[in-house]
Amino acid sequence: MRDAAPTTIYLKDYTPFGYVVDSVHLTFDLEPHSTRVTSQIAFTPNPEATDRSFFLHGEQLKLISAKIDGIAISPTVTEQGLSCDVPNAPFTWETVVEIDPANNTALEGLYMSNGMYCTQCEAEGFRKITFYPDRPDVMSVFTVRINGPHPVLLSNGNPVDAGPHWAEWHDPWPKPAYLFALVAGELLAHSSTFTTVSGKHVDLNLYVRPGDEGKCAFGMEALKKSMIWDEQVYGREYDLDVFNIVAVDDFNMGAMENKGLNVFNSSCVLASPETSTDDNFERIEAIIAHEYFHNWTGNRITCRDWFQLCLKEGLTVFRDSQFTSDLRSAPVKRIRDVIDLRGRQFAEDNGPLSHPVRPESFQEINNFYTATVYEKGAEVIGMLKRLVGDAAYAEAVDLYFARHDGQACTIEDWLKVFEDTTGRDLTQFKRWYSQAGTPRVNVTEDWTDGTYTLTFTQSTPATPGQPHKDPRVIPIAVGLLGSNGDEVRKTEMLELTEASQSFSFDGLSSRPTPSILREFSAPVILERDSTNAERAFLLAHDTDPFNRWEAGNALAKDARLNMITKGAAPDADYLDALQKLVRDDDLDPGFRALVLQPPSASDLAQTLFENEHAPDPQAIYDASETMAQTLAQTLADSLPRLYAATTVEGPYQPDAVGASNRMLNFRMLALLSRLDGGDQAAQQFASADNMTLQYAALVCLLSIDKGAEQNQAFFDQWKDDRLVMDKWFAAQVAFATPEKTAAIAATLTQHPLFDMKNPNRFRAVMGALAMNHAGFHHISGDAYSLLADWLIKLDPLNPQTTARMCSAFQTWKRYDADRQALIKIQLDRIAATPDLSRDTTEMITRIREA
Ligand code: PHE
Ligand code: ZN
Repeated sequence: MRDAAPTTIYLKDYTPFGYVVDSVHLTFDLEPHSTRVTSQIAFTPNPEATDRSFFLHGEQLKLISAKIDGIAISPTVTEQGLSCDVPNAPFTWETVVEIDPANNTALEGLYMSNGMYCTQCEAEGFRKITFYPDRPDVMSVFTVRINGPHPVLLSNGNPVDAGPHWAEWHDPWPKPAYLFALVAGELLAHSSTFTTVSGKHVDLNLYVRPGDEGKCAFGMEALKKSMIWDEQVYGREYDLDVFNIVAVDDFNMGAMENKGLNVFNSSCVLASPETSTDDNFERIEAIIAHEYFHNWTGNRITCRDWFQLCLKEGLTVFRDSQFTSDLRSAPVKRIRDVIDLRGRQFAEDNGPLSHPVRPESFQEINNFYTATVYEKGAEVIGMLKRLVGDAAYAEAVDLYFARHDGQACTIEDWLKVFEDTTGRDLTQFKRWYSQAGTPRVNVTEDWTDGTYTLTFTQSTPATPGQPHKDPRVIPIAVGLLGSNGDEVRKTEMLELTEASQSFSFDGLSSRPTPSILREFSAPVILERDSTNAERAFLLAHDTDPFNRWEAGNALAKDARLNMITKGAAPDADYLDALQKLVRDDDLDPGFRALVLQPPSASDLAQTLFENEHAPDPQAIYDASETMAQTLAQTLADSLPRLYAATTVEGPYQPDAVGASNRMLNFRMLALLSRLDGGDQAAQQFASADNMTLQYAALVCLLSIDKGAEQNQAFFDQWKDDRLVMDKWFAAQVAFATPEKTAAIAATLTQHPLFDMKNPNRFRAVMGALAMNHAGFHHISGDAYSLLADWLIKLDPLNPQTTARMCSAFQTWKRYDADRQALIKIQLDRIAATPDLSRDTTEMITRIREA
């Protein structure tokens, strides 16, 4: 057993630690297989705690020596940590431990990646570096000395001093251990500077491996934009002399907000026009902002315990989405966020892994870095802002920073600043944090004697451990349109608080068309009988861009669902509406591209399931193919012109305008490929001078089962670029036809460049396999068993990435009995694997209990 028997930890059991940590001094003597870590920690009994037992977390550490006030002691050491008797007065604790970073494949704690040392401590990785009270409410000031032969030696805070083969760092801001970081290696710095609003000078560095220096400029600019934005919009100034970012190839997540030393998965920071797509650029900009924004929402104000994870993550995701909206197109950002929310969070919230935004128990916290905590957590903040208004939101957030700076906080603290500024009682609102599941909101309407009435009824299905749900406060933004398309009522924020509630509008001359849940004002499933004619009308006239898209999306989904469940032909109204829209040059090309973007197979599957149909993945695929073919034929005459019109003149720029044109360009090329057998795509592939156009062409070809030649050319051109090779691995699997998907993925796992220890490469193949809906769910069951094989292989090396990928199976109960049986075999096989990690055990157990 590598992990002790799983234990469940409960929010209600929280108690403060018995000791305060006044200061921490760490010394690292770096050696690949035997790094020594010396810690000197000043402890004082905590007057606010009643339990004074002394336990320090520690895992996989070789204890060399331990001393209290300079006197050697022999503590009791278990697999989880160490305990011993300590003085009932302030004392100095000192240990020396030895660790093995070169053999650390879990990528948690101190590990090596391509010869460089780096750390990952969130959530509970610091205990793999030294013995410590590894909990976020224990905050302290860290001083770190690093001894090693590397030219670059980094830790948190400000540099104190350095000499040949050593460096010392001091972080003046008290922080929890999960924000500790250390990096050492032969790295190059891309440097710049920033002057804060109060005139303080900050050195900025982006450290990369030699060879990557050409991919730093964009990230650096994004960092500066983030720093300015946080000053201007949230009044937050940076608080150290340096801000360092390091790019690492082997990383389990996207990036990490360590104080003054952010560590990034190289895929989330390195960018160049030749190697990165528009989507990569936008994502990189958002993640740099996200990690930077954590400096205030996460670091200066942190979480009391891991149940409060959404306190920092929901708020920081909300802040980074505001940032992207401000810098780029707000409607496009909102639409894409909602597509993502429905694709990932709704799937989670409506299946066996459903949990509240603030969970009340867990076995392995790593399993709770979820779409619910992050994305739904951000939606909850958006709702709060809509309910109290922009001015009160700003005031409450100011109070939050003023009142809680330097503290480890809870959701209660967060809501209290809103209650104190607005006088509003948020007891009912708090259910958004405690109740899991996506609310269904049913709408009916009435038109009598000039009064228009909307009646809303809310209900939330049972979720694991929560059979009964209480009504929530749901902000529903509503506008009304007259018959000529004019807005007769501007957006009003209705507050639904009851299980069922009506809202009336007087003084209307004729029955209006409602535009409900504008801007997607709440993360709910809206149920309303509508007609194609009404949707086409909203698609043409709604003043709310989100709902305009939503009307098109509803048409798109219904047309496909009717093909799947009723054998209907592609809907003529839908095709007609699309034709009008695509030719409307007054509309933003990015918006048009989003309306043309087919609803995802998993979204269709989710909707079928909500309507009590077992989704047939092959039928969903066939309907989508037929629809695309029909649409291409319908638009045939204008396609070449529309395609040509999206060409962006001049050198490639990763800006919103160019990206928006290229989004539409991709949609047009995808349709053209269905008419010309891929000729235009092959031409675009050959002439592309940037990755966005090159990759789009490759995807169009692979999607019609062509492009073998281009696939090889792509490999030859990019085989030495790790990040582009991830795209190469992923595209072949993600865009394969259903019957070939599993075989292609299996072949790629035998490729010399496939490396299961690298999470990006593993995800490129296995993540793409899970995302190819019809391929993954092919009735042969080959993809299910292939994924299970590789999860079983990866688990002993990297439990965290294995556990996250188990969620590919979370929707299994939606499907027919045959597929369920095939998946169950794999779930049972994984569960029966000897020595399965705590991470994967928890995930598989929850999924099987569906
Ligand atoms: N806290 C990181 C973020 O959201 C995510 C992360 C979690 C990274 C755990 C590593 C490990 O920015
Ligand atoms: Zn975060």
